[in-house]
Amino acid sequence: MMNKLSVNHLLGIKYLTKADINLIFETADHFKEVINRPIKKVPSLRDITIANLFFENSTRTKLSFEIAEKRLSADILNFSSSSSSVTKGETLIDTVNNILSMKVDMVVMRHPNPGAADFLSKHVDAKIINAGDGAHEHPTQALLDSFSIREKYDDLKGKNVVIVGDIIHSRVALSNIFCLKKLGANVRVCGPLTLIPKHIASLGVEVMTNLKDALNWCDVAMMLRIQLERQNMKFFPSLREYSMQYGLDKQLLDSLDKEITVMHPGPINRGVEITSDVADSKQSIILEQVQNGVAIRMAVLYLLAGKIE
Ligand code: CP
Repeated sequence: MMNKLSVNHLLGIKYLTKADINLIFETADHFKEVINRPIKKVPSLRDITIANLFFENSTRTKLSFEIAEKRLSADILNFSSSSSSVTKGETLIDTVNNILSMKVDMVVMRHPNPGAADFLSKHVDAKIINAGDGAHEHPTQALLDSFSIREKYDDLKGKNVVIVGDIIHSRVALSNIFCLKKLGANVRVCGPLTLIPKHIASLGVEVMTNLKDALNWCDVAMMLRIQLERQNMKFFPSLREYSMQYGLDKQLLDSLDKEITVMHPGPINRGVEITSDVADSKQSIILEQVQNGVAIRMAVLYLLAGKIE
């Protein structure tokens, strides 16, 4: 088995090989076992300092990286742009260079601009992990999603996965399309055509506009949040109308030909893309996704730390 990643930073799933993804999964299998032990902490990243730079809000990703770093015994700096000198006009590169001069080895960064993590990796001497860059990529989310499907079905090869909703504004959708296809899954997207990028076919993804047909085709449905904060114009008449056509409720779930698995990256808009009884049903693996996120992030941090010279 290969024991090193082919990349020095985790900027996007686009840059990973299938062997990289499998290495991350095998390492995460080990860490998942570790975090379920009574003593959850290992010394793997002792003397490694990690800065978590969040220029955009987060609950799951921020807490998940932080707990992963603590379980690996790393030293941590937490930075949130809303309470920093960014509000006084400091640039990204100045902010990061100031933090790096405190001898930081790795940076986990969420930023509203696509390409921000890539930009940083070219300008600073630290391992960079993209924790979401605008509507571009969210690689650790896609890794934890595929890891969760693998846990449920053993193998992703030949599995049918439909991603539903606001595809055009979603970094989760793009990273998942790359990851699922590299692992041999069949991927379709479903939603109003205004929320589906025109180039989607070039990614080898088919488009469906009828939710019930899409759900009857799939083994796994990933329901996405409508990202109103990235929508500067109207993409559908109202949330109520969106929900009537593309929301998943229990009646629809129970009417399908087979028992599908329901996923959601969070945060959930209960009653818009998914109702509470679906989110909390036995077919939903939403909380397993969150739990697997810690093991996946431990694996990514551990493998990239192994590339520090
Ligand atoms: N899934 C996800 O990225 O959630 P947060 O925005 O809360 O980190």
